[in-house]
Amino acid sequence: MVKTIEWTDAGVVMIDQRILPTEETYITCKDYLEVADAIQTMVIRGAPAIGVAAAMGFAIGVEKAADENLDAQVEEISKVLAATRPTAVNLFWAIERMKRLYALLRTEGAELPALRQRLIDEAKEVLRDDIEINKAMGRHGAALLPHGATVMTHCNAGALATGGYGTALGVIRAAIESGNPVAVMANETRPFMQGARLTVWELQQDSIPVTLLTDNMAGHTLRSGKVGAVVVGADRIAGNGDVANKIGTYSVAVLAKENNVPFYVAAPISTLDMSLTSGDKIPIEQRASEEVTHIRGQQIAPTGTQVINPAFDVTPNKYVTAIITEKGVARAPFVDSLKELAQS
Ligand code: MRU
Repeated sequence: MVKTIEWTDAGVVMIDQRILPTEETYITCKDYLEVADAIQTMVIRGAPAIGVAAAMGFAIGVEKAADENLDAQVEEISKVLAATRPTAVNLFWAIERMKRLYALLRTEGAELPALRQRLIDEAKEVLRDDIEINKAMGRHGAALLPHGATVMTHCNAGALATGGYGTALGVIRAAIESGNPVAVMANETRPFMQGARLTVWELQQDSIPVTLLTDNMAGHTLRSGKVGAVVVGADRIAGNGDVANKIGTYSVAVLAKENNVPFYVAAPISTLDMSLTSGDKIPIEQRASEEVTHIRGQQIAPTGTQVINPAFDVTPNKYVTAIITEKGVARAPFVDSLKELAQS
C-alpha cells in the first residue's frame, strides 16, 4: 500500500497529492514551515493525514529550534501549523497532543536532546496509531456492507488521506479481506478531483474494482438501485452527529436517503468535536477561485468569473445512518451514542 507520509533522517517525506495520478513524486519537508506549506497547498490532505503531518511538523520544528526561548518557539510552531487549514479537527487534535507532551517533558525538566527525541517518537506513534485505528474501524464497518455490494464514496478517505489503510476505504479494504467482494463507485469530487485522481489511483494499486462517475451522476446512480451503501470519511463531527466532509457530501447524503441507500460515515474518535453542539458551528474553509475556474492549470471559465469555493459542507445528522469509529458504531440519537463512544 502507498506510503502517504513518513519520518526520515532527511525530513518529513510525503507523496505529492497535487500531481497524482500522472506523476508519483515525493517531497521532503526539512522544517516546520515546509510542513505547514505542504498542508496548506494540499501536497498532503485528508483529515487524519494532516493530523499526522501536524504532529511531524511540530516534532521537526522543535528538533530544528534553537535551545534559547524554546517555549516561545513552540508557541510559534503551533500557531503556524494550526493556521494551515480550519475545518479538519484532527489537525488541532494532533497539535494539542504534541503540546501536552512538550509541556509534560518541560515540567519534568527533561534534557533537550531527550525531549526532542521523545517528540519525534510521539509523532511516529501518531502515524502508527492512525493505521491501527483505521484497521479497527474497517472491521466494524465491514460488517455493515451487504455481500458483493457496490459502495459509493465521495472524495478520498483512503490510505492517502490517512497514515495508511484509510477510513471509508479502510471499510472497503476490510470487507474484501474478510471475503466480501465489494466494488467501489468513486465520485470524481470537483474541484480538486480527489475521487478521480486519488481514490481511483489508490484502489487500482490494490486491484480493488472501482468505477468513476462525475459528481452530477450520483443521484441517477443512487436511484438505479445498483448502490448498496454509501461510505464517506469526515473532517469534523459535531456532538450531535452533524458531519463536515468534502463539498458535495451533503448532496450525496440527501440523495442516498431519498433512495433508501444507507449512508455511513467512517471516522476516528479524533475527528469528533464534542465541544460543538451542532454542525452549524464548524468552520468551513474557502479556497482559491482558481481551483474552480481552472482544471490543472487549464482555464475553463471566462476571465474574471465570480466564484465560490467552499471546500466542505455539513451533512445534518438526520441523513446519517451510522458513524463508524475504531471503538464501535454509533447510531441515532448521536448525542448519546457519540458521547458514550468518546468516553469509552
Ligand atoms: O480537502 P481535503 O482533500 O483535505 O478533504 C478531505 C476530505 O474531505 C475527506 O473526506 C476527509 O478528510 C476524510 S479523510 C479520511
